[in-house]
Amino acid sequence: MVIPMTDVIPIPMELHPDPSADFTLTGSTVLAVSGGAVAEPTATWLAALLRHGTGFALPITVGAAHAGSVIALELGDADPSLGDEGYTLTVRPGSVVIRAATGAGLFHGAETLRQLLPGSVETAGGRGPWTVSGGQIVDRPRYPWRGAMLDVARHFFSVADVERYIDEIALYKINILHLHLTDDQGWRIAINGWPQLTAVGGSTEVGGGTGGYYTQDQYRQIVAYAASRYVTVVPEVDGPGHVNAALASYPELTCSGTAPPLYTGIDVGFSSLCVGKAVTYQFLDEVLGQLAAMTPGSYIAIGGDEAGGTPPEDYTAFIEKAVQTVAAHGKTAVGWAEIAAAPLPSGTIAEYWDTADGGASLERAVQDGVKVVLAPANRCYLDQKYDDNTTLGLVWAGPTSVETAYDWDPTSYGVPAAQVEGVEAPLFSETLTTMADIEQMAFPRLPGIAEIGWSPQSTHDWSSYRLRLAAQAPRWEAMNLDFYRSPEVSWPAG
Ligand code: ACM
Repeated sequence: MVIPMTDVIPIPMELHPDPSADFTLTGSTVLAVSGGAVAEPTATWLAALLRHGTGFALPITVGAAHAGSVIALELGDADPSLGDEGYTLTVRPGSVVIRAATGAGLFHGAETLRQLLPGSVETAGGRGPWTVSGGQIVDRPRYPWRGAMLDVARHFFSVADVERYIDEIALYKINILHLHLTDDQGWRIAINGWPQLTAVGGSTEVGGGTGGYYTQDQYRQIVAYAASRYVTVVPEVDGPGHVNAALASYPELTCSGTAPPLYTGIDVGFSSLCVGKAVTYQFLDEVLGQLAAMTPGSYIAIGGDEAGGTPPEDYTAFIEKAVQTVAAHGKTAVGWAEIAAAPLPSGTIAEYWDTADGGASLERAVQDGVKVVLAPANRCYLDQKYDDNTTLGLVWAGPTSVETAYDWDPTSYGVPAAQVEGVEAPLFSETLTTMADIEQMAFPRLPGIAEIGWSPQSTHDWSSYRLRLAAQAPRWEAMNLDFYRSPEVSWPAG
């Protein structure tokens, strides 16, 4: 069966199917790449994926002219209305042409082509025929920020796990990986001059396991891997709360001068940096400065949530200082929406999560005139249980069914359209210890958030989405992706 264009998630902006124009990938198909070197890494990536799945040679040729069966990646000359990330994908009997003005657009188009091929293309020696449905797709995202947040602090995840997650989110055109690098239970990034942060603060995790951390080279490796999938890493160092691991490492960061013990439970809101001490700002400057130097993306996240251990006037003073420090290192600050209690420069991004606050933090962010990323916990938090039978996960904002995660509209939160930067799906890891745990919680809810971030609101429809979602299952099985077979979706027999 040929996969219909409507099965692509996120569903593209425009579909023009032409049943008379199907294309079949064969042993004589070539991959032609043109328009410059920026297109070449995506060609190499796509060729590797398709060679692995089909067993075909699929040679890469450089240049626009081609005869015979071809998949063409063409950079440049795209419709300017498609923006920074848009593309067209045109399928005719002899060719598939992906055209975009940017490398990101070409990559997104290649991910669309991947989804139009049978799921078994994800397996070595998968079974064809490799037929792609004919017609044209014209596509661009609704929002520039389509984020996934991964908490590597509560439980540590290896570079390989993070890279696998990057591949999984990129398949759904997520373009931001917000990495929650520090929390009460663990400090996961090496900072030169502050070796105890990782030696002590990185030595454990929730439940008392051995924890871990990334060297700066490993962090750079993650950033580069993400960039190859057109995903921008947004590193987060949380403060002034969620800092027990740092305080346990350096007693001078506490007001008392005494280091607390390491913490391996899952309470929140008890730890605080000492806002009145000069060393706090030396620490902040060195941490944020080193992160900024290793991070080509525009954003550094400063946390700012659940600072129950910090007096309110200290809180706003700290946030002001943290935002200024990020700016001094040439980046834009991102924080959880509580940061709107402090005066913020207009480019700052406030991420709304705490639906229990009745929208108060979001309202302040709107009044401050900053950009907003919507991650309402009762819709977007992938760490919440699906239902009463889910073994992993928490329930403070849930349970959150697949339908609940999908069936909401970013325009319904009272934020002026010009202030909505996008959406994000956070995955906190209090109860998650393995890659399979991550996949169980993220899939199948993450593609729903991705679709909200990318596809026009006019396409939004749970009754058809659940059928399109079911059609992803053969691909996930071929990828060995451990998704939750929610009873809300009629999955095909495995
Ligand atoms: C959060 O869930 N504390 C951002």
